[in-house]
Amino acid sequence: MTDLFSPVRLGDLDLANRIVMAPMTRDRAGSEDEPTQIMVDYYRQRASAGLIVTEGTQPSAAGKGYWRTPGIHSPAQIAGWRRVAEAVHAEGGRIVMQLMHVGRAAVRANKADNAETIAPSALPCPDLIPGPDGVPTATEMPRALTTADIAGVIAEYVQAARHARAAGVDGIELHCASGYLPMQFLSTNTNQREDRYGGSVENRVRFVVETLQAMADAIGPGRVGFRICPGVTFNGMADADPEQTYSTLLRAADGLGLAYCHLMHIPNAGFDSLDMVRAHWSGAVIENSGMTLEKARGVLADGRAEAVSFGYAFIGNPDLVERFRHGTPLAKADRTTFYTGHGDDRRGYTDYPTAQT
Ligand SMILES: Cc1cc2nc3c(=O)[nH]c(=O)nc-3n(C[C@H](O)[C@H](O)[C@H](O)COP(=O)(O)O)c2cc1C
Repeated sequence: MTDLFSPVRLGDLDLANRIVMAPMTRDRAGSEDEPTQIMVDYYRQRASAGLIVTEGTQPSAAGKGYWRTPGIHSPAQIAGWRRVAEAVHAEGGRIVMQLMHVGRAAVRANKADNAETIAPSALPCPDLIPGPDGVPTATEMPRALTTADIAGVIAEYVQAARHARAAGVDGIELHCASGYLPMQFLSTNTNQREDRYGGSVENRVRFVVETLQAMADAIGPGRVGFRICPGVTFNGMADADPEQTYSTLLRAADGLGLAYCHLMHIPNAGFDSLDMVRAHWSGAVIENSGMTLEKARGVLADGRAEAVSFGYAFIGNPDLVERFRHGTPLAKADRTTFYTGHGDDRRGYTDYPTAQT
């Protein structure tokens, strides 16, 4: 039986165990969107995870939409991530960076003055998202990308992947969920393009597949993963047929030799998305959402996933792996401090104790 604590290789990534820290935006970056010292401490504390997936990180200034999210497009940002990667590696951990371009899910006041808000089609995101100080704010109307623009956006992702590697980060994960730019291309309601990136399902998956291929060419396919959440309606997503969209995407990505597919498996998609991934994807799978120790053991034992990821549990339990190993009860994370970082305020971020202290 596959054990949660056994090592596993996902592409070129060697994990000491199968417990992955899920990507979590925490809004603690500095004034230049660079990782701060408390971010170094936060990731170091959680480095006993088999793999850390970082918080969503913008590949370009245009890719930013939320308050105080970090980037990977300037020397200061690369230097900050180098300190994070070194800290995680010094503890024996592995870390991949989640590349998150929000597309239309952007608040004007969160972005640099010259950073545009772009999307596959000029349709605004209907949801309010956190603006400065986390206050829910209306999003900016996006400009529809021209066909020629798309190559430039893919080039930004490629450069970001190279920067992540230059900073010593082990790989990247393309965020294709939660209603951000890649998902805006995938979903029928947000992609009303009439060029080769819109219309048929083969055209709607093209942006994601070309981006994955280009990043794989740049840093090696075994260092590239991607995250999906079929059926999610967050940020105004309403795909007419997510099963068709994602099965087509998975088949198209399957030949690229990528490290893993990270699945946010939601119960109300109308179908079992883990079954769907297993039917159309031959690579490794990281299963996520609402996992408990028991559920994680079950999904590994059944061979339905190679690893499992935990979000909330890693916020309040920096030593989650040890707690699982010894059956120690888990601490509860305080939701009121998920996104409330000011300066170097550690509260609700790096002040969760380990079970021993
Ligand atoms: C505070 C917070 C921030 C999150 N930010 C991101 C993010 O940046 N990228 C992402 O893909 N998912 C993000 N998520 C979703 C988590 O990665 C995960 O899918 C979700 O929490 C469900 O897993 P869990 O039940 O183990 O917490 C976030 C979740 C939380 C709680």
